[in-house]
Amino acid sequence: MDPKQFNMEYFNSRRSVRSFKEQAPEPALIDAILRLAMRAPNTGNMQLYSVIITRDKQALKALRPAHFCQPASMAPVLITVCADVRRFERWCQVSNAVPEFRNLQGLTAAVIDASLLAQQITTVAEMKGLGTCWLGTTTYNAPEIAEVLHLPQGVVPVGTLAMGWPEGDTAQCERLPLEAWAYHETYPDFSDADIKRLYAVKDDLAENQKFVEENGKQTLAQVFTDVRYPASNSEPFSTKFKDYLLKAGFRL
Ligand SMILES: Cc1cc2nc3c(=O)[nH]c(=O)nc-3n(C[C@H](O)[C@H](O)[C@H](O)COP(=O)(O)O)c2cc1C
Repeated sequence: MDPKQFNMEYFNSRRSVRSFKEQAPEPALIDAILRLAMRAPNTGNMQLYSVIITRDKQALKALRPAHFCQPASMAPVLITVCADVRRFERWCQVSNAVPEFRNLQGLTAAVIDASLLAQQITTVAEMKGLGTCWLGTTTYNAPEIAEVLHLPQGVVPVGTLAMGWPEGDTAQCERLPLEAWAYHETYPDFSDADIKRLYAVKDDLAENQKFVEENGKQTLAQVFTDVRYPASNSEPFSTKFKDYLLKAGFRL
C-alpha cells in the first residue's frame, strides 16, 4: 500500500485495544519502537521521563491489582510511563550544577514530556500492528506501582501502556465533531442548545443509550458523573496521589 494511504488509514481507523494474544512482542521490537518514539518533543530536550517495561510474569501479576485487574491490564507487556526529574537532577549534581525541578512547573514539564512520549510510543507501536491501551489507573495507585517498580523520589508514574498483539476486533468509538472542540481565534460561548447538539453524537448513540439504561440513569452524562468517575472515587484517589507527590519530594 502507498505509505501515505497507509498513514491515512491508520489515523482514521485507530482505536484502543484491550484484548491481547498471549505471545508478547519481542523485546527488540519494543526497543525499536522506543527508539523511534524518543523523537517526541520534550521540555528543553531534558527528556524528563522514563519508562519501565514489565514483561516478567511475576512482575505483571504484582502490577495488575494496582490497575484493578481491568481487562487491558492482562496484556503481556505493561509499559509504565513516568514523569522523571530525578535522572536530570543527578546529572546536574555530578556536573556541579544546582537543579530545581521539584516544584509545580518542574512536575508539569515532566508530566507533559511523559505524555507526549507515551502518545508517540502508542502511534509507532500501533503502526507496527500492535494494540495498545492507556491505563489511567496508574495515578490512582501510584504508591503501589512505585513499590513494585522500585521508583525513587523525583519519579512519578503517570500512566501505563498495555501492549501486545491484538486478539479479535475492537469497535471504534465516537468523537465530538470538530466544531465542538476546535475554535478559531477566541473561545465560543455555547448555549444549552449548542451543547445538546454537539453532544448528540454521544447521547443519541444506541450503545450509549443502552449503557444509560443498564446503569439505571437518565442521561449519559450521569453515567460519567455517578458511575464511571464519581467524586466518591476521585476525591480519595486525589488525596492519595497528592500524598504520593509530596513523598516523592515535590513541593506543591
Ligand atoms: C488518561 C487516560 C486514561 C485512560 N484510562 C483507561 C483505563 O484505565 N482503562 C481503559 O480500558 N482505557 C483507558 N483509557 C483509554 C480510553 O478509554 C480511550 O482512549 C477512549 O475511550 C477513546 O477510545 P479510543 O482510544 O479507542 O479511540 C484511557 C485513556 C487516557 C488518555
